[in-house]
Formats: sequence, structure tokens, C-alpha cells
Amino acid sequence: MKGIILAGGKGSRLYPMTKAVSKPLIPIYDKPMVYYPLSVLLMAGIREVMLITAPADVEAYKRLLGDGSQFGIRVEYGVQYVARGIADAFLIAEDFIAGDRCCLVLGDNMFYGGKLEEHVKEAAQRTEGATVFGYPVKNPSVYGVVEFDKDHRVVSIEEKPKHPKSHYAVPGLYFYDEHAVEYAKTLTPSARGELEITSLNEEYLKRGKLTVQLFSRGLAWLDTGTPEGMLNAAQYVEAVQSRQGLYIACPEEIAWQQGFIDDEQLLKIGNELKMTEYGQYLTDLVNRK
Ligand code: DAU
Repeated sequence: MKGIILAGGKGSRLYPMTKAVSKPLIPIYDKPMVYYPLSVLLMAGIREVMLITAPADVEAYKRLLGDGSQFGIRVEYGVQYVARGIADAFLIAEDFIAGDRCCLVLGDNMFYGGKLEEHVKEAAQRTEGATVFGYPVKNPSVYGVVEFDKDHRVVSIEEKPKHPKSHYAVPGLYFYDEHAVEYAKTLTPSARGELEITSLNEEYLKRGKLTVQLFSRGLAWLDTGTPEGMLNAAQYVEAVQSRQGLYIACPEEIAWQQGFIDDEQLLKIGNELKMTEYGQYLTDLVNRK
């Protein structure tokens, strides 16, 4: 299974920060925002990742993530010249996906805790159809919204409805079988001029191939797209990390837990960064084992 991180777009709600830097490079507390979605892909066991961003930002992501070898994965880069919509990712990544199944995660979505690892591993193992998630929110109308019937079957999925039919928003984490590119090619731009990810999900729903899994209650899905959202996410990360002494979304740690890198590789990275708390943390992981 391939992984795609979509990290382009305008990020206009975080202007003027996004005038200088791509939104997912902005820090959430102590690490770049993009580490959070990257960690979810690693947790799902995905080792081939394409990061898609605007042409001006590719070099910055390359400096941060390189070829992915420090995480025991392969990272490639795709360019989105015009922010044509989230589903455009499948057209850009067609050669990279190469007929495989894939998982798409938005560069500004943060997930933590609960049964996250079980949820993503289960979705990654499903060989047919699409899997998206449902998460109760107070303000569903700014998201994709999923409606269920009384037997918990999905009835509809709508993008930013004025009158939402439920409180279940669809987070920016999607798993697809090998038909995603083919279906994405048939989509037409919405009223706001974008190839909507919700339209792709509707296509799967029409074919009876859309699974919506509800995230367990203890799982945190945080919105980092507004200044308040960013601050809330940073405070959440800080509170959990200082209490537990464990990092949220440390890709090296997750790669090590997944067996993508071994003790020796983790110690090598820790040693190179030994002047930083981050490096010390990595070294301690091995030494405390
Ligand atoms: O966060 C989850 C929501 O994400 C879903 O519930 C919605 O169904 C989905 O449409 C999306 O809504 P947003 O309004 O948050 O999408 P936004 O345009 O802000 O884009 C999300 C991220 O994707 C953002 O970091 C920028 C990036 N992006 C977006 C577009 C449209 C791109 O890189 N290229 C694009 O063309």
C-alpha cells in the first residue's frame, strides 16, 4: 500500500504565516505539523510515501524528510502547480501509486491516541473499496459530513453542508483500493472549483464500496487549520508529552517500533542529535528497553 501526504494548498486561514512557509511546515508545539500525518502512515505500516506540495515548497520538505531513509521508508515528492482540490492528489500520484492501494492523509490533520493504530491497520488491510472515518464534532458544516441510517449504514456523504445531516465529520485520512485513480479521473470540479475528496468518496458509496469506521471516543482528531486550532493542538501535545515523557508523533520512534529501523539506526540518529532533547529521547528509547 502507498501513502500520500497532501501538503500544498493556500492555507489562507493561517495567513500571514503561510505567506512564508507551507502550512504543514509550521510547528505544532515542538515539531513540524507534517510529522503528525506522517506518523499516521508509519503506524499503518506504510513504507512508500509521496509528499505532494506546491513547487516553491518542495525543497523545504526535502530538507526535512529527505529520501525517508532515516525512517526506514522511501519518500518521493510530487508537485501540485494549482490547488485544484484534494482528489487531484490521485492524478498527480498516478505513476507513484502504480495500480496499488493507497492511503491519503492531509498535511494539516493530527490524530492521536485511542485505538488509532488498530483503526489504521484494519483499514490498511481491507483489500476492497474505500475506508473513511467518522468523528463527532460540534461544527460539522465546515467538514465532509457522513449520514447513517438506524442500522449504521452510510446513507450520504456531503462536503461542507449548510444543514448537516449528522454530527459526524470525515477526517482527512482516507484508504482506497486500486480504483481510486480511475474514479478520480471521472470527477468534475465542484461549485467551488475543486476536485473534492468527498466526490471520490461518493463514487465509492454509489458502488456500495464505502466503509465508514467511527473513531473510538478517546481518539483525538485536531484541526490545525486556524490560529485557535493550532494553539489547542500545541497545548494538547505539550500537556500529554510533559505528563508522560513520551512524544506524540515522533516518526523515528514509530519507525523503530514498526521494525523499519533497528536499535543501531535509532542510536545513530540519537547520537547525531545528542545536543538536542529530541536526540536524547531517541537514545533513551533504546537504552530503556
Ligand atoms: O480536515 C478534514 C476536511 O478536509 C474534510 O472533512 C473535508 O471533507 C475535506 O474537503 C477537507 O476540508 P478542508 O476545507 O479542510 O480542506 P482544505 O481546502 O483546507 O485542504 C486541506 C489540506 O489539503 C490543506 O492543508 C491544504 C491541502 N490542499 C488542499 C487543496 C484543496 C492541497 O494541498 N491542495 C489542494 O488543492
